[in-house]
Amino acid sequence: MDISVIGAGYVGLTTGISFAEFGNKVKFIDIDENKINKIKHGIAPIYEEGLQELIKKNFDRINATTNYENLDSIVFICVGTPSLPTGLINLQYVKQAVENVAKNLDDGLIIIKSTVFPGTTEKILLPIVRKYSDKISIAMNPEFLREGMALHDFMNPDRIIIGVIDERGEKILKKLYTPIKAPIMVTNPTTAEMIKYASNSFLATKISFANEIGNLAKILGIDVYDVMKGVSMDHRISPYFLNAGAGFGGSCFPKDLRAIASGAKKLGYDMKLINAVLEINDEQPLRLIKLLEKYMSIEGKEIAVLGLAFKANTDDIRESRSIPVIKELIKKGANVRAYDPMAMENMKKIFDIKYCNSVEEALMNADACIIMTDWKEFEDIDFRNMKNKIVIEGRKILKNREGIIYEGICW
Ligand code: UGA
Repeated sequence: MDISVIGAGYVGLTTGISFAEFGNKVKFIDIDENKINKIKHGIAPIYEEGLQELIKKNFDRINATTNYENLDSIVFICVGTPSLPTGLINLQYVKQAVENVAKNLDDGLIIIKSTVFPGTTEKILLPIVRKYSDKISIAMNPEFLREGMALHDFMNPDRIIIGVIDERGEKILKKLYTPIKAPIMVTNPTTAEMIKYASNSFLATKISFANEIGNLAKILGIDVYDVMKGVSMDHRISPYFLNAGAGFGGSCFPKDLRAIASGAKKLGYDMKLINAVLEINDEQPLRLIKLLEKYMSIEGKEIAVLGLAFKANTDDIRESRSIPVIKELIKKGANVRAYDPMAMENMKKIFDIKYCNSVEEALMNADACIIMTDWKEFEDIDFRNMKNKIVIEGRKILKNREGIIYEGICW
Protein backbone atom coordinates (compact mmCIF):
# COMPACT_ATOMS: atom_id res chain seq x y z
CA MET A 1 0.00 0.00 0.00
CA ASP A 2 1.03 3.64 -0.41
CA ILE A 3 1.13 5.68 2.78
CA SER A 4 1.83 9.31 3.63
CA VAL A 5 3.08 10.20 7.09
CA ILE A 6 2.68 13.78 8.29
CA GLY A 7 5.30 14.69 10.91
CA ALA A 8 8.78 13.13 10.93
CA GLY A 9 9.40 13.05 14.67
CA TYR A 10 10.15 9.79 16.46
CA VAL A 11 6.55 8.57 16.16
CA GLY A 12 6.16 9.46 12.46
CA LEU A 13 9.58 8.13 11.49
CA THR A 14 9.09 4.89 13.41
CA THR A 15 5.61 4.35 11.99
CA GLY A 16 6.64 5.18 8.43
CA ILE A 17 9.87 3.24 8.31
CA SER A 18 8.23 0.18 9.91
CA PHE A 19 5.48 0.17 7.28
CA ALA A 20 8.16 0.56 4.60
CA GLU A 21 9.95 -2.44 6.11
CA PHE A 22 6.68 -4.38 5.64
CA GLY A 23 6.84 -3.59 1.91
CA ASN A 24 4.66 -0.46 1.69
CA LYS A 25 5.70 2.74 -0.06
CA VAL A 26 5.96 5.62 2.39
CA LYS A 27 6.12 9.37 1.92
CA PHE A 28 7.20 11.56 4.87
CA ILE A 29 5.86 15.10 4.97
CA ASP A 30 7.26 17.65 7.40
CA ILE A 31 7.57 21.44 7.42
CA ASP A 32 11.21 21.12 8.56
CA GLU A 33 13.24 21.20 5.32
CA ASN A 34 16.38 20.12 7.08
CA LYS A 35 14.71 16.90 8.26
CA ILE A 36 13.23 16.23 4.84
CA ASN A 37 16.60 16.72 3.14
CA LYS A 38 18.22 14.28 5.51
CA ILE A 39 15.59 11.61 4.85
CA LYS A 40 15.95 12.21 1.11
CA HIS A 41 19.65 11.46 1.45
CA GLY A 42 19.04 8.36 3.53
CA ILE A 43 20.08 9.97 6.80
CA ALA A 44 18.03 9.52 9.98
CA PRO A 45 17.12 13.04 11.22
CA ILE A 46 16.91 11.89 14.87
CA TYR A 47 18.62 9.18 16.89
CA GLU A 48 16.43 6.14 17.47
CA GLU A 49 17.93 2.68 17.78
CA GLY A 50 17.88 0.85 14.44
CA LEU A 51 16.33 3.76 12.53
CA GLN A 52 19.37 4.59 10.41
CA GLU A 53 19.76 0.97 9.30
CA LEU A 54 16.08 0.68 8.33
CA ILE A 55 16.14 3.96 6.39
CA LYS A 56 19.12 2.65 4.41
CA LYS A 57 17.56 -0.75 3.89
CA ASN A 58 14.21 0.64 2.65
CA PHE A 59 15.59 3.66 0.86
CA ASP A 60 13.92 2.82 -2.47
CA ARG A 61 10.52 2.59 -0.77
CA ILE A 62 10.63 5.95 1.02
CA ASN A 63 10.26 9.50 -0.11
CA ALA A 64 10.20 12.84 1.70
CA THR A 65 8.75 16.25 0.94
CA THR A 66 7.59 19.48 2.54
CA ASN A 67 4.43 19.81 0.48
CA TYR A 68 1.03 18.19 0.67
CA GLU A 69 0.55 17.65 -3.05
CA ASN A 70 0.25 14.09 -4.39
CA LEU A 71 -0.80 12.64 -1.06
CA ASP A 72 -1.41 8.91 -0.80
CA SER A 73 -4.89 7.77 0.16
CA ILE A 74 -3.73 6.47 3.55
CA VAL A 75 -2.38 9.29 5.72
CA PHE A 76 -0.99 9.03 9.25
CA ILE A 77 -0.97 12.24 11.31
CA CYS A 78 2.03 12.14 13.68
CA VAL A 79 2.59 15.80 14.54
CA GLY A 80 3.23 17.07 18.07
CA THR A 81 0.62 18.12 20.61
CA PRO A 82 2.64 20.27 23.05
CA SER A 83 1.31 21.53 26.38
CA LEU A 84 -0.35 24.93 26.68
CA PRO A 85 0.21 26.95 29.88
CA THR A 86 -3.26 25.77 30.99
CA GLY A 87 -2.14 22.13 30.83
CA LEU A 88 -4.41 21.45 27.87
CA ILE A 89 -2.72 20.42 24.62
CA ASN A 90 -2.10 22.72 21.70
CA LEU A 91 -4.13 21.16 18.89
CA GLN A 92 -3.06 23.72 16.31
CA TYR A 93 -0.56 21.47 14.49
CA VAL A 94 -2.93 18.50 14.32
CA LYS A 95 -5.81 20.64 13.09
CA GLN A 96 -3.60 22.30 10.48
CA ALA A 97 -2.24 18.95 9.26
CA VAL A 98 -5.74 17.43 9.01
CA GLU A 99 -7.01 20.48 7.12
CA ASN A 100 -4.06 20.40 4.71
CA VAL A 101 -4.68 16.71 4.06
CA ALA A 102 -8.43 17.14 3.60
CA LYS A 103 -7.80 19.97 1.10
CA ASN A 104 -5.46 17.81 -0.96
CA LEU A 105 -7.20 14.43 -0.83
CA ASP A 106 -10.36 13.33 -2.65
CA ASP A 107 -10.92 10.06 -0.91
CA GLY A 108 -9.00 8.03 1.63
CA LEU A 109 -8.31 7.39 5.31
CA ILE A 110 -6.75 9.83 7.76
CA ILE A 111 -5.31 8.08 10.82
CA ILE A 112 -4.56 10.15 13.91
CA LYS A 113 -1.50 8.90 15.81
CA SER A 114 -0.82 12.13 17.69
CA THR A 115 -1.95 11.92 21.32
CA VAL A 116 -5.17 13.93 21.59
CA PHE A 117 -7.81 14.40 24.30
CA PRO A 118 -10.72 11.92 24.09
CA GLY A 119 -13.34 13.21 21.67
CA THR A 120 -10.93 15.21 19.51
CA THR A 121 -10.98 12.98 16.43
CA GLU A 122 -14.75 12.72 16.20
CA LYS A 123 -15.79 16.12 17.50
CA ILE A 124 -13.03 18.42 16.20
CA LEU A 125 -11.05 16.71 13.43
CA LEU A 126 -13.84 14.92 11.56
CA PRO A 127 -15.83 18.19 11.13
CA ILE A 128 -12.69 19.80 9.63
CA VAL A 129 -12.43 16.91 7.14
CA ARG A 130 -16.15 17.19 6.31
CA LYS A 131 -15.69 20.83 5.26
CA TYR A 132 -13.74 19.50 2.25
CA SER A 133 -14.88 15.96 1.63
CA ASP A 134 -17.74 13.58 2.40
CA LYS A 135 -15.73 10.58 1.28
CA ILE A 136 -12.62 10.68 3.49
CA SER A 137 -12.77 8.46 6.58
CA ILE A 138 -10.94 9.04 9.85
CA ALA A 139 -9.44 6.73 12.48
CA MET A 140 -7.50 6.97 15.73
CA ASN A 141 -4.60 4.60 16.26
CA PRO A 142 -2.61 5.52 19.39
CA GLU A 143 1.09 4.74 19.73
CA PHE A 144 2.72 3.08 22.73
CA LEU A 145 6.34 3.68 21.74
CA ARG A 146 9.08 4.42 24.22
CA GLU A 147 11.64 6.90 22.94
CA GLY A 148 14.88 5.08 22.20
CA MET A 149 13.01 1.76 21.93
CA ALA A 150 10.44 2.97 19.42
CA LEU A 151 11.21 0.54 16.56
CA HIS A 152 11.32 -2.43 18.90
CA ASP A 153 8.03 -1.36 20.50
CA PHE A 154 6.39 -0.82 17.11
CA MET A 155 7.33 -4.28 15.90
CA ASN A 156 6.55 -6.03 19.19
CA PRO A 157 3.51 -4.32 20.71
CA ASP A 158 1.38 -5.77 23.49
CA ARG A 159 -1.69 -4.67 21.53
CA ILE A 160 -2.80 -2.57 18.59
CA ILE A 161 -5.72 -0.23 19.23
CA ILE A 162 -7.79 0.83 16.26
CA GLY A 163 -10.50 3.46 16.75
CA VAL A 164 -12.64 3.68 13.62
CA ILE A 165 -15.89 5.18 12.37
CA ASP A 166 -16.54 2.66 9.58
CA GLU A 167 -15.63 -0.75 8.21
CA ARG A 168 -13.31 0.66 5.60
CA GLY A 169 -11.06 2.18 8.28
CA GLU A 170 -11.01 -1.11 10.18
CA LYS A 171 -10.17 -3.12 7.05
CA ILE A 172 -7.31 -0.86 5.94
CA LEU A 173 -5.72 -0.68 9.39
CA LYS A 174 -6.01 -4.43 9.99
CA LYS A 175 -4.36 -5.06 6.62
CA LEU A 176 -1.53 -2.62 7.35
CA TYR A 177 -0.80 -4.30 10.68
CA THR A 178 -1.00 -7.89 9.32
CA PRO A 179 2.78 -8.50 9.66
CA ILE A 180 2.67 -7.73 13.39
CA LYS A 181 1.71 -10.52 15.73
CA ALA A 182 -0.33 -8.84 18.45
CA PRO A 183 -3.97 -8.71 19.51
CA ILE A 184 -5.95 -6.00 17.73
CA MET A 185 -8.73 -4.21 19.56
CA VAL A 186 -11.24 -2.40 17.39
CA THR A 187 -13.20 0.40 19.03
CA ASN A 188 -14.40 3.94 18.37
CA PRO A 189 -11.92 6.86 18.11
CA THR A 190 -12.87 8.41 21.48
CA THR A 191 -12.26 5.14 23.33
CA ALA A 192 -8.95 4.70 21.49
CA GLU A 193 -7.90 8.20 22.58
CA MET A 194 -8.84 7.43 26.17
CA ILE A 195 -6.93 4.12 26.10
CA LYS A 196 -3.77 6.08 25.29
CA TYR A 197 -4.27 8.62 28.10
CA ALA A 198 -5.32 5.95 30.58
CA SER A 199 -2.28 3.81 29.75
CA ASN A 200 0.20 6.63 30.28
CA SER A 201 -1.67 7.79 33.39
CA PHE A 202 -1.50 4.30 34.88
CA LEU A 203 2.22 3.90 34.17
CA ALA A 204 2.95 7.34 35.65
CA THR A 205 0.78 6.45 38.65
CA LYS A 206 2.89 3.34 39.24
CA ILE A 207 6.02 5.52 39.29
CA SER A 208 4.59 8.11 41.70
CA PHE A 209 3.28 5.25 43.86
CA ALA A 210 6.75 3.70 44.01
CA ASN A 211 8.19 7.12 44.83
CA GLU A 212 5.67 7.75 47.60
CA ILE A 213 6.33 4.35 49.19
CA GLY A 214 10.04 5.03 48.58
CA ASN A 215 9.94 8.34 50.45
CA LEU A 216 8.50 6.58 53.49
CA ALA A 217 10.96 3.69 53.06
CA LYS A 218 13.77 6.24 53.22
CA ILE A 219 12.47 7.61 56.54
CA LEU A 220 12.21 4.04 57.85
CA GLY A 221 15.77 3.23 56.73
CA ILE A 222 14.80 0.54 54.24
CA ASP A 223 15.29 0.16 50.48
CA VAL A 224 12.20 0.63 48.31
CA TYR A 225 13.74 -1.64 45.65
CA ASP A 226 13.59 -4.54 48.10
CA VAL A 227 10.02 -3.55 48.96
CA MET A 228 8.94 -3.39 45.30
CA LYS A 229 10.69 -6.66 44.54
CA GLY A 230 8.44 -8.33 47.06
CA VAL A 231 5.37 -6.37 46.01
CA SER A 232 5.78 -7.13 42.30
CA MET A 233 5.98 -10.87 42.85
CA ASP A 234 2.19 -10.59 42.89
CA HIS A 235 1.40 -11.16 39.20
CA ARG A 236 -1.52 -8.75 39.46
CA ILE A 237 0.95 -5.92 40.06
CA SER A 238 3.93 -6.76 37.74
CA PRO A 239 7.45 -5.43 38.26
CA TYR A 240 7.43 -2.79 35.52
CA PHE A 241 7.43 0.96 36.16
CA LEU A 242 7.96 0.58 39.88
CA ASN A 243 11.53 1.90 39.85
CA ALA A 244 11.56 4.72 42.37
CA GLY A 245 13.79 7.72 41.79
CA ALA A 246 13.67 11.41 40.95
CA GLY A 247 10.33 11.06 39.12
CA PHE A 248 9.18 10.79 35.53
CA GLY A 249 10.10 13.20 32.74
CA GLY A 250 10.03 13.15 28.96
CA SER A 251 7.70 14.48 26.34
CA CYS A 252 4.78 12.20 27.22
CA PHE A 253 3.91 11.40 30.84
CA PRO A 254 3.97 14.93 32.33
CA LYS A 255 2.21 16.42 29.29
CA ASP A 256 -0.41 13.69 29.01
CA LEU A 257 -1.27 13.74 32.71
CA ARG A 258 -1.61 17.50 32.71
CA ALA A 259 -3.78 17.25 29.59
CA ILE A 260 -6.16 14.64 30.99
CA ALA A 261 -6.48 16.46 34.32
CA SER A 262 -6.99 19.87 32.69
CA GLY A 263 -9.39 18.46 30.10
CA ALA A 264 -11.41 16.74 32.83
CA LYS A 265 -11.51 19.96 34.87
CA LYS A 266 -12.90 21.79 31.85
CA LEU A 267 -15.64 19.17 31.76
CA GLY A 268 -16.35 19.73 35.47
CA TYR A 269 -14.51 16.70 36.86
CA ASP A 270 -11.61 16.93 39.31
CA MET A 271 -9.11 14.09 38.76
CA LYS A 272 -7.77 13.79 42.30
CA LEU A 273 -5.52 10.79 41.70
CA ILE A 274 -3.89 12.17 38.54
CA ASN A 275 -3.29 15.52 40.24
CA ALA A 276 -1.66 13.76 43.19
CA VAL A 277 0.56 11.77 40.80
CA LEU A 278 1.73 15.05 39.25
CA GLU A 279 2.22 16.70 42.64
CA ILE A 280 4.40 13.84 43.90
CA ASN A 281 6.38 14.05 40.67
CA ASP A 282 6.93 17.80 41.05
CA GLU A 283 8.19 17.45 44.62
CA GLN A 284 10.36 14.39 44.07
CA PRO A 285 13.46 15.96 42.47
CA LEU A 286 13.64 18.64 45.17
CA ARG A 287 14.06 15.91 47.78
CA LEU A 288 17.58 15.46 46.40
CA ILE A 289 18.40 19.03 47.39
CA LYS A 290 17.11 18.43 50.91
CA LEU A 291 19.29 15.32 51.18
CA LEU A 292 22.31 17.33 50.07
CA GLU A 293 21.53 20.03 52.63
CA LYS A 294 21.86 17.44 55.37
CA TYR A 295 25.59 17.69 54.70
CA MET A 296 26.30 21.25 53.58
CA SER A 297 24.90 24.66 52.84
CA ILE A 298 24.78 24.85 49.08
CA GLU A 299 25.84 28.46 48.54
CA GLY A 300 29.19 28.82 46.79
CA LYS A 301 29.70 25.05 46.52
CA GLU A 302 30.87 23.19 43.41
CA ILE A 303 28.11 20.68 42.67
CA ALA A 304 28.44 18.10 39.90
CA VAL A 305 25.19 17.01 38.26
CA LEU A 306 25.61 13.76 36.35
CA GLY A 307 22.91 12.97 33.80
CA LEU A 308 20.78 15.58 32.07
CA ALA A 309 18.62 13.49 29.71
CA PHE A 310 15.14 12.54 30.98
CA LYS A 311 16.23 8.91 30.84
CA ALA A 312 19.26 6.99 29.62
CA ASN A 313 20.07 6.46 25.92
CA THR A 314 18.50 9.66 24.65
CA ASP A 315 19.57 13.29 24.15
CA ASP A 316 16.03 14.42 25.02
CA ILE A 317 15.86 16.71 28.04
CA ARG A 318 12.16 17.57 27.89
CA GLU A 319 10.75 17.68 31.45
CA SER A 320 13.97 16.03 32.65
CA ARG A 321 14.09 15.86 36.44
CA SER A 322 17.56 17.38 36.26
CA ILE A 323 16.01 20.72 35.22
CA PRO A 324 14.28 21.52 38.55
CA VAL A 325 17.35 20.22 40.41
CA ILE A 326 19.77 22.50 38.52
CA LYS A 327 17.34 25.42 38.85
CA GLU A 328 17.18 24.96 42.63
CA LEU A 329 20.96 24.56 42.95
CA ILE A 330 21.48 27.80 41.04
CA LYS A 331 18.84 29.55 43.15
CA LYS A 332 20.69 28.49 46.27
CA GLY A 333 23.97 29.88 44.93
CA ALA A 334 25.80 26.70 43.84
CA ASN A 335 28.31 26.55 41.00
CA VAL A 336 26.86 23.76 38.91
CA ARG A 337 28.99 21.64 36.57
CA ALA A 338 27.14 19.14 34.48
CA TYR A 339 27.93 16.09 32.40
CA ASP A 340 25.80 13.89 30.17
CA PRO A 341 26.97 11.56 27.39
CA MET A 342 24.36 12.83 24.90
CA ALA A 343 22.18 15.65 26.21
CA MET A 344 24.56 18.53 26.94
CA GLU A 345 23.94 20.44 23.70
CA ASN A 346 20.23 20.53 24.47
CA MET A 347 20.74 21.60 28.08
CA LYS A 348 23.03 24.45 26.96
CA LYS A 349 19.90 26.10 25.54
CA ILE A 350 18.40 26.26 29.05
CA PHE A 351 21.24 26.76 31.55
CA ASP A 352 24.42 28.77 31.34
CA ILE A 353 26.46 26.50 33.62
CA LYS A 354 29.75 24.66 33.25
CA TYR A 355 29.50 21.65 30.94
CA CYS A 356 32.21 19.02 31.36
CA ASN A 357 33.54 16.53 28.83
CA SER A 358 33.63 13.60 31.21
CA VAL A 359 32.51 12.33 34.60
CA GLU A 360 36.11 12.78 35.81
CA GLU A 361 36.18 16.44 34.81
CA ALA A 362 32.82 17.09 36.51
CA LEU A 363 33.95 15.42 39.74
CA MET A 364 37.40 17.01 39.98
CA ASN A 365 37.46 18.88 43.35
CA ALA A 366 33.66 18.93 43.50
CA ASP A 367 31.97 19.43 46.87
CA ALA A 368 29.14 17.04 46.05
CA CYS A 369 27.66 15.05 43.22
CA ILE A 370 24.03 14.35 42.27
CA ILE A 371 23.25 11.50 39.87
CA MET A 372 20.09 12.18 37.84
CA THR A 373 20.01 9.72 34.90
CA ASP A 374 20.65 5.99 34.84
CA TRP A 375 23.32 5.97 32.14
CA LYS A 376 25.27 2.70 32.09
CA GLU A 377 28.60 4.56 32.32
CA PHE A 378 27.54 5.85 35.77
CA GLU A 379 27.57 2.32 37.21
CA ASP A 380 31.27 2.37 38.08
CA ILE A 381 32.24 5.94 38.90
CA ASP A 382 35.55 6.69 40.54
CA PHE A 383 34.88 9.42 43.12
CA ARG A 384 38.51 9.67 44.24
CA ASN A 385 39.16 13.20 42.96
CA MET A 386 36.18 14.87 44.62
CA LYS A 387 36.88 17.37 47.39
CA ASN A 388 34.11 15.96 49.58
CA LYS A 389 32.93 12.56 48.50
CA ILE A 390 29.24 13.31 49.03
CA VAL A 391 27.10 11.47 46.50
CA ILE A 392 23.31 11.80 46.23
CA GLU A 393 21.56 9.41 43.89
CA GLY A 394 18.24 10.13 42.16
CA ARG A 395 18.41 6.90 40.12
CA LYS A 396 19.65 3.62 41.50
CA ILE A 397 22.59 2.95 39.24
CA LEU A 398 25.84 2.93 41.27
CA LYS A 399 27.35 -0.51 41.82
CA ASN A 400 29.93 0.46 44.39
CA ARG A 401 29.34 2.87 47.25
CA GLU A 402 32.55 2.23 49.16
CA GLY A 403 34.53 5.22 50.38
CA ILE A 404 31.81 7.79 49.80
CA ILE A 405 29.18 9.54 51.88
CA TYR A 406 26.06 8.29 50.17
CA GLU A 407 22.33 9.04 50.11
CA GLY A 408 19.82 7.40 47.77
CA ILE A 409 16.55 9.24 47.26
CA CYS A 410 14.27 6.35 48.26
CA TRP A 411 16.76 3.84 49.65
C1 UGA B 1 6.31 6.70 27.52
C2 UGA B 1 5.60 5.33 27.57
O1 UGA B 1 6.43 4.37 28.22
C3 UGA B 1 5.26 4.82 26.16
O2 UGA B 1 4.51 3.62 26.25
C4 UGA B 1 4.44 5.90 25.46
O3 UGA B 1 4.11 5.51 24.13
C5 UGA B 1 5.22 7.19 25.40
O4 UGA B 1 5.50 7.60 26.75
C6 UGA B 1 4.36 8.20 24.70
O5 UGA B 1 3.27 8.54 25.20
O6 UGA B 1 4.67 8.57 23.55
P1 UGA B 1 8.84 7.52 27.16
O7 UGA B 1 8.36 8.87 27.58
O8 UGA B 1 9.70 7.39 25.97
O9 UGA B 1 7.58 6.52 26.91
O10 UGA B 1 9.71 6.98 28.37
P2 UGA B 1 9.58 5.88 29.53
O11 UGA B 1 10.63 4.87 29.29
O12 UGA B 1 8.21 5.42 29.72
O13 UGA B 1 10.03 6.76 30.79
C7 UGA B 1 9.32 7.93 31.19
C8 UGA B 1 9.91 8.50 32.46
O14 UGA B 1 9.59 7.69 33.58
C9 UGA B 1 11.44 8.62 32.45
O15 UGA B 1 11.82 9.85 33.05
C10 UGA B 1 11.89 7.45 33.30
O16 UGA B 1 13.12 7.66 33.92
C11 UGA B 1 10.75 7.38 34.32
N1 UGA B 1 10.59 6.04 34.94
C12 UGA B 1 10.24 4.98 34.18
C13 UGA B 1 10.77 5.90 36.30
O17 UGA B 1 11.07 6.87 37.02
N2 UGA B 1 10.58 4.66 36.85
C14 UGA B 1 10.22 3.58 36.12
O18 UGA B 1 10.05 2.49 36.71
C15 UGA B 1 10.05 3.74 34.74
